[in-house]
Amino acid sequence: MNLVFICDPERYPHADNDIPVCYKAAARDPRIDLFHLPVAHVTGADEIDVVPVETGVLSHEAFLNLNMAPRRVMPVASVDVMFCRTLKPFPEGHLDRLGRWIGKTRFLNHPLNKKIQISAGFLSQLAPDYTPETIVTGDASSLDAYLARHGVVVAKRPNSTNGLGVYKIWREDGRYRTDHVHEGVRDFPDGRALLAYVRGEWDAVELVRFLPRVTAGDKRVVVVGGDIYGAYIRRSASGHWVHNVSSSDSLCYPAEVSDFERQAVAATVPLYRDYGFHTLGYDFLLNDDGRWLISEINVGNIGGIARLEQLTGESFMDRFLDWIVSFAERPAYDVAAVGLRKSGRR
Ligand SMILES: Nc1ncnc2c1ncn2[C@@H]1O[C@H](COP(=O)(O)OP(=O)(O)O)[C@@H](O)[C@H]1O
Ligand SMILES: [Mg+2]
Repeated sequence: MNLVFICDPERYPHADNDIPVCYKAAARDPRIDLFHLPVAHVTGADEIDVVPVETGVLSHEAFLNLNMAPRRVMPVASVDVMFCRTLKPFPEGHLDRLGRWIGKTRFLNHPLNKKIQISAGFLSQLAPDYTPETIVTGDASSLDAYLARHGVVVAKRPNSTNGLGVYKIWREDGRYRTDHVHEGVRDFPDGRALLAYVRGEWDAVELVRFLPRVTAGDKRVVVVGGDIYGAYIRRSASGHWVHNVSSSDSLCYPAEVSDFERQAVAATVPLYRDYGFHTLGYDFLLNDDGRWLISEINVGNIGGIARLEQLTGESFMDRFLDWIVSFAERPAYDVAAVGLRKSGRR
């Protein structure tokens, strides 16, 4: 089968990162002809400029240099499966350009529906029973009302990752304060000024009740094709409330998946599948009542498979590749038509 991975390899200097580990496993697999597509070569044209990856051992150095390796032209229609691992925030027009290939190839995650999925409020609308209280607003009076109700809240920007668009907000001595993993604590005279800062270029953000037991860490549950592969907890060694692996000094521990978390996955997987999303990275945070609630569901470029291998010694990457091979055998409409119907929703 012809498998195309899209990413910019130089973003992954560490050989144990999920993306290089996945490239290397796919390169070794005799069932797979692996091709690399640099992010800048996602043009939407019917022919693509890909780097064929030789079957066998892919060294980390060769991985890092893939964007400069010799390329060849190939029709999109001859690609069985495309897996986009572009990092958020996506380049302008990236998802639309990928979207021109819908119907010509199979995507592990429907690129046009991704536009809907990364918009504010998507998850909390789909899964209110499994997420902390959330509103979407850019308005200072709604912020005041939400702060009065919950005391401390978290604002989240859309299209963000690694804790970079996440701000803790509270009131103190008549002032408004925020805390951000890199920008630290800031002080504002009123809610309007604070919102202008946390919104950035966006009209609205998600406001979520702050979960004080976040100190327990952030539980990642890796779900592929509806199957739970496993879970681990990331916790910042310094005790910072932001636990993402790449934004802090976080440590990882293997974790169990409770019945409640399985219910949360079972309730959301079919909804995400209807949008054409098949590789999911759930982030759960500990609620006051001892249950873990879904903080976000990452779609597409999920990390965790390589981490699960490190933590458990089991070969999850092989399981993932087996699943990709079976995905390539599905009728194309199975993975394209459903998504197309839904993409016009907003
Ligand atoms: N409601 C919340 N209460 C407390 N901490 C939160 C909350 N939401 C997010 N966080 C913290 O911010 C981190 C990143 O949040 P997340 O929603 O996973 O966004 P990202 O896409 O940046 O990973 C989490 O790991 C957690 O430490
Ligand atoms: Mg997260």
